[in-house]
Amino acid sequence: MEINLTRENTLDPWACFSRDIDDIWLEIGFGGGEHLAWQAKTYPRIGFVGCEPFLNGIVKLLSRIRSMELENVRLYRDDARLLIARLPANIIGRAFILFPDPWPKLRHHKRRLISEGVLGSLAEVLRDEAEVRIATDDPSYLEWILWHFQRHPEFEWQASVPNDWRSSPHDWPPTRYEKKANAAGRKCTFLTYRRCRRL
Ligand SMILES: C[S@@+](CC[C@H](N)C(=O)[O-])C[C@H]1O[C@@H](n2cnc3c(N)ncnc32)[C@H](O)[C@@H]1O
Repeated sequence: MEINLTRENTLDPWACFSRDIDDIWLEIGFGGGEHLAWQAKTYPRIGFVGCEPFLNGIVKLLSRIRSMELENVRLYRDDARLLIARLPANIIGRAFILFPDPWPKLRHHKRRLISEGVLGSLAEVLRDEAEVRIATDDPSYLEWILWHFQRHPEFEWQASVPNDWRSSPHDWPPTRYEKKANAAGRKCTFLTYRRCRRL
């Protein structure tokens, strides 16, 4: 159930799943785990790796895993960047980063998860044409996310009409943060990127 990094150089995520799976998807900062649990139930042939350092969130997801009898979820209880750095290249089929902490103060921007370095590491572990789903309700973080992805040569934004970023795809259930944002009248933006094919 839990992924522990050892001193070995790379972690083989396929080896973490005892049953046959078709692909591995990653959720970074799953919070209470409602989205991850829903995805795992909906896609039983996918192995899910969830990263979250927040203990309450881990406990909530563990309880969902038990009550929903999920066998295809593995947890990493720390900073996702440490795990990504140890994954082999070209292995993750989809990644979710839903409502990452916005760190709105200018002096805290360096703490934001989305950065050139993280996008570079993510591009490395994602398979060709893998999807990255990301959402935010913070206008300043939205600009930041768009700027970082748009200038990254390995990601392509999938939107063609405004509805593509104003509403989420059918298999993207609302998270706790999305519900909080809606209740407070804040607009949420849903971005889907695709990792370009390697040459
Ligand atoms: C604003 S909350 C959003 C939670 C959830 N995705 C949602 O939409 O309800 C951001 C979450 O990301 C987690 N987080 C922040 N930095 C992280 C990191 N480097 N690796 C993994 N999780 C991280 C936090 O602990 C927190 O639970």
